[in-house]
Amino acid sequence: MFNIFKKKNQDATLFYVTDVHCHILPGVDHGAQTVEDSLAMLRAEKEMGINRVVLTSHVTAETFENTPETLKPAFELLKQAVAETEDLRDMQLYLSAEYRIDEFWDKQYAAGNQIAMPGNYILMENSFHQELLGLDDLLFDLRMKGYHPILAHPERYGYYAQRHQRMEHLHGMGIKFQVNLLSLAGYFGQHCRETALWLAKKGMIDMLGSDMHGMEHVKVIKNYLNSKEWRKLAPTLQSHILNDLVRD
Ligand SMILES: [Fe+2]
Repeated sequence: MFNIFKKKNQDATLFYVTDVHCHILPGVDHGAQTVEDSLAMLRAEKEMGINRVVLTSHVTAETFENTPETLKPAFELLKQAVAETEDLRDMQLYLSAEYRIDEFWDKQYAAGNQIAMPGNYILMENSFHQELLGLDDLLFDLRMKGYHPILAHPERYGYYAQRHQRMEHLHGMGIKFQVNLLSLAGYFGQHCRETALWLAKKGMIDMLGSDMHGMEHVKVIKNYLNSKEWRKLAPTLQSHILNDLVRD
């Protein structure tokens, strides 16, 4: 039996070591604003048992039009700061992004400007208003080009809540589903939490992510990791969670 949890009265840790979704890169979206914010969030990751962090800043039309030119300097800055911070030196950082499927993505993808995770995984985010026409074609195209698309937090798109078959179809196409720990914790409301629990029941959660934007999210996640529900859910998820396969 794996020792998933520390002794009583100590904070629980996760059963995987790779966070595939977070907004820890400083100053490029509405996550960490400064290097100090980033270091505090990385310290929180470490306390939860994470030692490999994929930095997935927003790339969205109009709001956060990030490109390799904006992301790479922030990544170098953070890597340098981590190397100079004794208790965080063992943290492995990887640069990628959370790509919203929109007109900015279309242009960047056509120009080959996407940054995939190790193992060629790539985190894709749907619009929150409606599923875009051509989603299946895009996901198919990504796969044909050797990528492994991950759909970020499918439980958060309200239009899927009543369309379980659609989620089953996408998952059946080989799209990996990444659910937010925050969703399981109820942070985004009951509907979202119910969809996350339904995905868990169906064995359709392939990856978990913190999606942390700041320390207020850390607090919610840490509380959830100490809950009875998580203690019950974790062993079933552990059998098929792929977070640590994100490597070259
Ligand atoms: Fe995110």
